[in-house]
Amino acid sequence: MAENSYFRWPPCLMLLIISVLVSLPTSHSQESPTYLGFVSNATEFPAEDYYDYIIVGGGTAGCPLAATLSEKFRVLVLERGGIPYGKPNLMTQDGFLTTLIEADAHESPAQLFTSEDGVPNARGRVLGGSSAINAGFYSRADQDFYTRSGINWDLRVVNQSYDWVEKAIVFRPELKNWQSAVRDGLLEAGIDPYNGFSLDHVRGTKIGGSTFDSSGRRHSAADLLSYANPSNIKVVVHASVERVLLASSSAYPDAKKSAIGVVFRDQTGQYHHAMVRDRGEVLLCAGALGSPQLLLLSGIGPRPYLASWGIPVAHHSPYVGQFLYDNPRNGISIVPPVPLDHSLIQVVGITSSGTYLEAASNSVPFASPAWPIFIHSPGSAIYLNVATLMEKIVGPLSSGSLRLASTDVRANPIVRFNYFSNPGDLERCVNGTRKIADVLKTRAMKDFRFHHLFGAREFRYVGPALPIDQSNDAQMREFCRRTVSTIWHYHGGCLVGKVVDHNLKVMGIGGLRVVDGSMFTVSPGTNPQATLLMLGRFFGLKLIRERMR
Ligand SMILES: Cc1cc2nc3c(=O)[nH]c(=O)nc-3n(C[C@H](O)[C@H](O)[C@H](O)COP(=O)(O)OP(=O)(O)OC[C@H]3O[C@@H](n4cnc5c(N)ncnc54)[C@H](O)[C@@H]3O)c2cc1C
Ligand SMILES: *[C@@H]1O[C@H](CO)[C@@H](O)[C@H](O)[C@H]1NC(C)=O
Ligand SMILES: *[C@@H]1O[C@H](CO)[C@@H](O)[C@H](O)[C@H]1NC(C)=O
Ligand SMILES: *[C@@H]1O[C@H](CO)[C@@H](O)[C@H](O)[C@H]1NC(C)=O
Repeated sequence: MAENSYFRWPPCLMLLIISVLVSLPTSHSQESPTYLGFVSNATEFPAEDYYDYIIVGGGTAGCPLAATLSEKFRVLVLERGGIPYGKPNLMTQDGFLTTLIEADAHESPAQLFTSEDGVPNARGRVLGGSSAINAGFYSRADQDFYTRSGINWDLRVVNQSYDWVEKAIVFRPELKNWQSAVRDGLLEAGIDPYNGFSLDHVRGTKIGGSTFDSSGRRHSAADLLSYANPSNIKVVVHASVERVLLASSSAYPDAKKSAIGVVFRDQTGQYHHAMVRDRGEVLLCAGALGSPQLLLLSGIGPRPYLASWGIPVAHHSPYVGQFLYDNPRNGISIVPPVPLDHSLIQVVGITSSGTYLEAASNSVPFASPAWPIFIHSPGSAIYLNVATLMEKIVGPLSSGSLRLASTDVRANPIVRFNYFSNPGDLERCVNGTRKIADVLKTRAMKDFRFHHLFGAREFRYVGPALPIDQSNDAQMREFCRRTVSTIWHYHGGCLVGKVVDHNLKVMGIGGLRVVDGSMFTVSPGTNPQATLLMLGRFFGLKLIRERMR
């Protein structure tokens, strides 16, 4: 189905990329932050221990949540992956593609999965979660999100939480040639006003924030652990949580069952128990795939489905794993006649009807100078320059679901997103793809076309070009379906109002909440990481206030 992606290369090319890139030296320093004193390997964990809060998943929402709660309470973070520091590809902007390409090695920081729609995708498996493998674009949620998300936000605390995150890990990117040209092209194509550098989701063309600093070094949710109170927090890596332990508890008399702890395994296969004390809670921050998977494995889900796996039913919750969404991405990639600077997403165009355009440029090592393209050659590697312009749709309206592939938590669940099953999504894609065509026609794109005899200038495409007749709805729809790819903003599976209440408590169970992208009905601002980082801080402050009352 999906074929137009500069992130997806033929296997032989991938091998070349890997073999060339792994030998490239890095100039960035890889020093670890000082908090690492409270991070330990699961093998060193006692067989049983007690905490006020157990956070499952040291990801984008989990790390800021843990750091905040540790100000007042004893906190445990259990993360299935390792630490990101010291891994050059993971920790640099230039290593973005390599991290995704090298994924699927045993315990690699990116775990690949392909949805039943046929679209390859990825999820974080490392401290920092998907914020430690992502493209770094940072933009606060759109204003609508706060009214539609089903959560009682306090907008003053929301802003304070964003500030707390941004002070530590958000930077203003410097535009190089492709991003500058795209900015000019978006404006020429009528996506205005120009908003300059802004962290807000606003109509027009803007430069967003980045979690890569000016030297290209990655910052992620893992960095936010340096805010933690070191004497109140334990972060355990290579700890794969298998299920939540449920029992009746006097701390939650209204619920038949409450979360009293979790069971996890270390790398040697040894089991450990972590338990909550008093009015403590288990907080699932395992992401849009991990949290619904863990609820199912713990016996919280649709009764007949759990029964079909022989999982004892603790609580019938019909919508666990349902309403799983992914924002479709479509676009074009070209090889220009000019040198290209490496860039991930920095400039975006946002229209009032919800079209969202963004761009990236990558220098991809290539073995042979056979391609009639610009070549530069640091060391012995020869590089192929690819510039991409893409659109993704807000929402989306189409949804799918998740089911277990195995009762082994380490196996990816089986997911299906049903891209474009809602005709509204297809119409948005057609509109967005037409906007790409408008941008390609602008003067700003002139230098990225090849000159031909008689003055003609043409783009040289990698993968499919847009249909020639862009007014033809049927052809444009076909292009959307045929070239659909992901922007990795998948969300849902534990929706507010369906699985969790507006305080993110799992309905019907005491002492258990889900605090991550699995409760979203829409991807906020369509770039979720800012909102998830804020959510961790916001909910940490909220839980502290609740319990200090
Ligand atoms: C390749 C890629 C590029 C992206 N680019 C951008 C971008 O540029 N801008 C943007 O805003 N967003 C981007 N995103 C999306 C964004 O990063 C994610 O939506 C967000 O990080 C998800 O946060 P989360 O807290 O819900 O889950 P995650 O950050 O994925 O955290 C879940 C954590 O739980 C752990 N876990 C799961 N199961 C278990 C278990 N059983 N036991 C223990 N630990 C477990 C995982 O290892 C992980 O660390 C991108 C995502 C990807 C994958
Ligand atoms: C964790 O401990 C196990 C067992 O001692 C060991 O095999 C593994 O390499 C350790 N992992 C790390 C990242 O230190
Ligand atoms: C929060 O910040 C946004 C800018 O990101 C601003 O527009 C809004 O007025 C602020 N809200 C409050 C309550 O301070
Ligand atoms: C698509 O664009 C058309 C024409 O500009 C507009 O009327 C329509 O509302 C747009 N559709 C969506 C779903 O945004």
